[in-house]
Formats: sequence, C-alpha cells, structure tokens
Amino acid sequence: MFVTFEGIDGSGKSTQVDLLRDWLVGEGHEVVVTREPGGTELGEGIRQLVLNGPEMTPWAEAALFASARAELAERVIRPALQRGHYVLCDRFSDATYAYQGGGHGVSREWIRALAEVVHPDCNPDATLLFDLPPEVSRERLARSRSEGRTLDKFEQEADSFFERVRAAYLERAAAEPGRFRIVDSTRPIDEVRGALASIVAAL
Ligand code: ADP
Ligand code: TYD
Repeated sequence: MFVTFEGIDGSGKSTQVDLLRDWLVGEGHEVVVTREPGGTELGEGIRQLVLNGPEMTPWAEAALFASARAELAERVIRPALQRGHYVLCDRFSDATYAYQGGGHGVSREWIRALAEVVHPDCNPDATLLFDLPPEVSRERLARSRSEGRTLDKFEQEADSFFERVRAAYLERAAAEPGRFRIVDSTRPIDEVRGALASIVAAL
C-alpha cells in the first residue's frame, strides 16, 4: 500500500510519518519511508537546488519536482510496492498541485498532465491531508526555529500563500474523496497518531 502525507509546512507530517512507521513495523509489516523532494541521490540534489538555490519560476520549480518524482517512483516506490511493502511518502504530486498550482498559479491542467506522464501507474492508494490554519503551523515553525532549525524558501512565504496552498489541498481532497482522508492536525501529537492508526487499520 502506497500512502502519502500532505499538508502545509509545519502541519506535522514528518512527525506522523515516523510514528505510523513505528506502528506498522510493530504490527509486523515491512515499511519503506521516503520523502519528496528527495529519497534518491538526484532527488536530494534537486531538493537542495529548489529549496536553497537560485530564484526560479514556478514552472521551473514544478518541472524540477516532477524530475525528482520520476526518479523516486522508478527507483524506490514501484520496487517497494512490488515487494509487497508499505510505502509512506512525505509529499507527492498533490504538493505540486497545492504549492505551484494553488500557491503560485501554475495551471492545474498542466500539473495534472505532468503527473500522468511522470508516474502513470504509480499513484497513492491513500493520501492523509494534515489540515490546519497557517497561523498554527507558523507558531510551530517559529518554535522549531528557536531550537536552531533554519526556515527554507517556502517556509518564509506569507500566511496568504499558505492559505492558497491549504485551499488547493482541500479542493483536491473534495475532488477525490475516495483517496483523501483529512486529518485535523491542530490536535495534540498523540491524538493525531491515534486517528491515523484507525484510518490505516480501516484501509
Ligand atoms: P511537517 O513535516 O509537516 O513540516 P513536522 O512534523 O516537522 O511538520 O512538525 C513541525 C513542528 O511542529 C515540529 O517542531 C513538531 O515537533 C511540531 N508538531 C508536530 N505535530 C504537532 C502537533 N500535533 N501539535 C503540536 N506540535 C506539533
Ligand atoms: P519539506 O521539508 O518536505 O517540507 P516540510 O517543512 O513540510 O517538512 O520541504 C519541501 C518544500 O517543498 C515544502 O515547502 C513544499 C515544497 N514542495 C513544493 O512546493 N512542490 C512539490 O511538488 C513538493 C514535493 C514540495
């Protein structure tokens, strides 16, 4: 089963990917955890380039994220699914739809066409959308910054950008209710963890 984790920056995805992996491993499953952009040598390079590199147009960003995704689908996700493992992926194509589409105005049609070309046979079975208002994630990110973590390019965007990203995610969830599960991630970590375990058990 291929499960993706989506939401605005600081919504708690990475925290819950680790907790869900531990739970699934405890249940006796083989689990592969990966992230986007990243998860392959090229993907990690693209991550550095997009998050910490030169200014670029949203189209260039979308195309670079798609290249990282092509590598990840081919080299990591498909092989793991063929071995019968769970794949938990921190972001996938819905992030391009939300950030470059909703946040930066790249045509949704073009993003959809790109996904169809890049990973036609590799789509998530379930997508967990960590939903919360940007002001809440902003407070969480401020806390991690005070603990020494630096904010990347997207994390420095205004709340209005994240409102658009959030709205695009919710639009996507409404269009594909069978795949998406919306998780209220304003709740404490342990409550969110419990909710995810129930969702995945039901799946
Ligand atoms: P993301 O991967 O979505 O950017 P993280 O999992 O890195 O989010 O969480 C961002 C910050 O918020 C971290 O400091 C994390 O400890 C904290 N955090 C995560 N989930 C919660 C939660 N449910 N309540 C409060 N703080 C949280
Ligand atoms: P990441 O560290 O994964 O985000 P988070 O702070 O949520 O843990 O950083 C990835 C950044 O890249 C994040 O700000 C979202 C952005 N992104 C896009 O804009 N488009 C995409 O297609 C993907 C995969 C990520």
